[in-house]
Amino acid sequence: MLLVKNRVFVMAFLVSLRLSEGSSDSIRIGYITGSEKPHPKSMYKRPGINISGALTLAVNEINNDSNILPNHTLEFTVKETYGKELNSVRHACDLSTNESISAIIGPQETCIFEAKVAAAYNVPMVSYFCTQKEVADKALYPTFVRTKPQDWVISSSVTSVLKYFNWKKVAFIHRDQAAFAHIAKTIVQVRRKIEINMPNSN
Ligand SMILES: *[C@@H]1O[C@H](CO)[C@@H](O)[C@H](O)[C@H]1NC(C)=O
Ligand SMILES: *[C@@H]1O[C@H](CO)[C@@H](O)[C@H](O)[C@H]1NC(C)=O
Ligand SMILES: *[C@@H]1O[C@H](CO)[C@@H](O)[C@H](O)[C@H]1NC(C)=O
Ligand SMILES: *[C@@H]1O[C@H](CO)[C@@H](O)[C@H](O)[C@H]1NC(C)=O
Repeated sequence: MLLVKNRVFVMAFLVSLRLSEGSSDSIRIGYITGSEKPHPKSMYKRPGINISGALTLAVNEINNDSNILPNHTLEFTVKETYGKELNSVRHACDLSTNESISAIIGPQETCIFEAKVAAAYNVPMVSYFCTQKEVADKALYPTFVRTKPQDWVISSSVTSVLKYFNWKKVAFIHRDQAAFAHIAKTIVQVRRKIEINMPNSN
């Protein structure tokens, strides 16, 4: 399911590049991913593994179908971060300053400095994973977009549903982990604005 969803996104994005490419036969995309462990015993979860499969599938399909990008072939330059921000920033610099690269897919866990670099060189950057909230400011990060919503967007949609059904009192259960606690907190904040009562919330 995730693979299919990612593939659809990647295809939509890649096809949109059609509008911006020149007359050259190949369009090269940089791809910044964390899909390998820095060393065998590392606990790094390598979230890039799932996305990389989707990307390969999408590119194969596009290149095989002469109706999607006629007379053009998509090519990739893959850069591995091993989940480390410094690697990610370095790759963003290399790709942004390389004139054969039209756009960047990624990065993964971090994106603040990477998005700034991409903006400096006017390179479109599409992250599928990074949720850092600073980059939401389009005035500061004009070439950055992402397909993974920030926590507060999820919170707003949850509370919108509650509001739509006019529920006045709800209980909300979440796992005791930093990421979930943050989402829970934003939901509580958002619902306060729309006056839904949550017992024991603060
Ligand atoms: C890859 O996707 C599968 C299916 O959604 C998920 O169970 C798994 O946790 C994902 N792996 C990583 C490393 O994110
Ligand atoms: C695209 O074509 C190649 C070569 O014919 C083939 O190996 C590959 O499986 C095809 N991919 C898709 C997604 O159709
Ligand atoms: C693709 O290339 C062929 C041969 O040069 C040309 O006839 C055709 O019009 C091109 N298609 C597009 C959509 O540019
Ligand atoms: C730019 O990217 C291409 C494709 O990955 C690579 O072959 C080339 O060496 C890069 N150029 C520089 C200056 O790094």
